[in-house]
Amino acid sequence: MRHLLGIRELSSDDIHQIYDLTDRFYEVLQQPTRKAPALAGTTVALLFFESSTRTRLSFELAAKRLGADVLNFSAAGSSLAKGETLLDTALNILAMGVDALVIRHQSVGTAHYLASRLPVPVINAGDGTHEHPTQALLDTYTLRRHFGRLEGIKLAIIGDIFHSRVALSHLYLAPKVGLKLRLCAPPTLVPPLWYNLGFPVYHCIEKAIRDADALLVLRMQKERQKQAPIASWEEYARFYQVRLEQLSPGQVILHPGPVNWGVELHPAFLEASVSRILDQVTYGVAVRMAVLYALLRG
Ligand code: NCD
Repeated sequence: MRHLLGIRELSSDDIHQIYDLTDRFYEVLQQPTRKAPALAGTTVALLFFESSTRTRLSFELAAKRLGADVLNFSAAGSSLAKGETLLDTALNILAMGVDALVIRHQSVGTAHYLASRLPVPVINAGDGTHEHPTQALLDTYTLRRHFGRLEGIKLAIIGDIFHSRVALSHLYLAPKVGLKLRLCAPPTLVPPLWYNLGFPVYHCIEKAIRDADALLVLRMQKERQKQAPIASWEEYARFYQVRLEQLSPGQVILHPGPVNWGVELHPAFLEASVSRILDQVTYGVAVRMAVLYALLRG
């Protein structure tokens, strides 16, 4: 592994190695110092061109827990406003002595583009509606911890799959780890080709939830929707909101965040023990430590 651009480029072995490394780093995070300075002396730059809370902070903390220095770049207030290109910005940041780049960008393919031109590992932290590999890795790592395995686990992804890079990364990931994936969205939020991929696609939420082991609920990604795919959030909530009483014993809920409480998820999940949403955030730091370590020291 030279870069982490998407789940598409990973083999099943790569993915299992990341889970195994994550187990080790999660143990480190349980110790009082919470540090394993395996990346001491290296510098990781975070280039975020889109809003982020969890992903940016999680990468920053992961790099710091491994002893790396972290350089934070955000597009607002940068020389991009003066006409500098993305590649030039990246080359200038590397010239300061940077060993790896983590990039989030609104355009599909940005991480691949930089990876083809830069001499350091590039990690995709989300490129438009394309992929978000570390999110899919941390979602499945959370399921692996909860169920003790992934093989045969039935995962329903419910929500705006049309605009979701998380959903696409899961389409690539599921067959590589033996997860049984099913998808659920209003007809206006299913990319037409997804009906032909071999995964069941439901428009009725009750059918999607029935006998699933876990639900991965997605946000309505309004900022990426060119035309309103549904009349209103109220209408979406009426037909597609996941509610506590729809769940059977043993089923758990995941969400990559940010959650629009009261739209895709009923607020009762805020305090419900079936929610694994904060576990995802906790494991996310260990997953990103594993990825940084694999690319810089593996
Ligand atoms: C996701 C993203 O940015 O793609 N969030 C995240 O990284 N935690 C999902 C979303 O924005 O809804």
